[in-house]
Amino acid sequence: MKPFLIKLALNNVILEDEFKLAVQEFKTIEIIPELDQQKADLTVFELESESDLDRIQSYIANTENTEVFLLSGNSDPQILIKAIRMGVNEFLPLPLKPDMIKDAILRFVERQKKKKRRAFKTSGQVISVVGSKGGVGTTTIAVNLAVTIAQAEEELSVALLDMNTLFGEIPMLLNISPKYHWGDIMKNMDRLDDFFLSNILSEHSSGVHVLPSPRYLNNSPVPASSAMDVLLDLMAVRYDYIIVDLGQSLNETALKILQRSELVQIVTIQSLPCLSNTNRLIKSFMDFSSVPKETIDIVLNRYLKKGMVTLGNAQEGVGKKISWIIPNDYGTTMSAINSGQPLSQVAPRSKIVESFNDYVEKLLPRDKKEKKKWKWF
Ligand SMILES: Nc1ncnc2c1ncn2[C@@H]1O[C@H](COP(=O)(O)OP(=O)(O)O)[C@@H](O)[C@H]1O
Ligand SMILES: [Mg+2]
Repeated sequence: MKPFLIKLALNNVILEDEFKLAVQEFKTIEIIPELDQQKADLTVFELESESDLDRIQSYIANTENTEVFLLSGNSDPQILIKAIRMGVNEFLPLPLKPDMIKDAILRFVERQKKKKRRAFKTSGQVISVVGSKGGVGTTTIAVNLAVTIAQAEEELSVALLDMNTLFGEIPMLLNISPKYHWGDIMKNMDRLDDFFLSNILSEHSSGVHVLPSPRYLNNSPVPASSAMDVLLDLMAVRYDYIIVDLGQSLNETALKILQRSELVQIVTIQSLPCLSNTNRLIKSFMDFSSVPKETIDIVLNRYLKKGMVTLGNAQEGVGKKISWIIPNDYGTTMSAINSGQPLSQVAPRSKIVESFNDYVEKLLPRDKKEKKKWKWF
């Protein structure tokens, strides 16, 4: 998780040191210089005289999304009321007591986390992972993408939906035993709400919430596309990311999911049949499901530099730039599958885990925004 940024707008160096000392154990915050161009999530001022209030008020008015703490030796109720009206979040009397600072910081962190949860909430994104053939790594990618997102930002809620119509392997890959299945959802469509949903999905230790394949327990039928619509509507409110392992199912329900996806990943490997399937899949998604071309990402899995088919050949073959290259690592993927653990747990320092981390870093909106911002300066 990225730390929350704090600026100390203090003239008094001793006060500054006291504050830094009191908060040094917090890993979730970082103190940055007052003139740093990044926006602070919290700015700390000292109120030396009442006239400082004007300066602070104009700072609050001109700075979006920052909290303000005010340190003051003067606890005159009139000043306090004024400060609160201005939007000061915490008022800390001087001399500073380390515990008081820590408590205030704890409350600040809680408020920030809540704010972040709300900010992400309205935009649940569906990412579908489709295989250009069986065995190309679709399930491995869906599972580990979900886990990587959940672990990248503690605040993000992630659901993983298994839509494989033949076998559902996700519970095995994550070593969980879901109690519920699609049949339970279909039978209870009329009482499907947030609460019901949170009970029916199984939580993995990474924080990912799993809905196993319709075929996982009692061979329930594939859900109708209308039911899928209702379910995705609800899930988009509750989850920030909904990762769907579509396997190779291309039934009506799968097409519905594709249409609703913010991102469709087609997984291929360096083999001519797969590349040619990928090419055909791109066309049919665009033509029959009206999936926009820019929504489709090509993922080249099991990449070998010395492969017969080069990266250039592969791109030419699919007629689209490859967005994500995942190195070949049979050992790590196999031991992950066989031990029911995510790749990051089996081999945290491997190239394949690095590849997932890099991809997710690019995917998450906070990073995108920050990169954009840097271009300005
Ligand atoms: N990047 C990779 N390098 C090496 N082997 C991989 C890689 N990704 C997946 N595999 C292997 O490919 C096989 C199929 O993976 P799986 O995720 O079940 O594919 P699918 O869901 O497309 O059938 C597994 O044995 C897995 O270990
Ligand atoms: Mg699979």
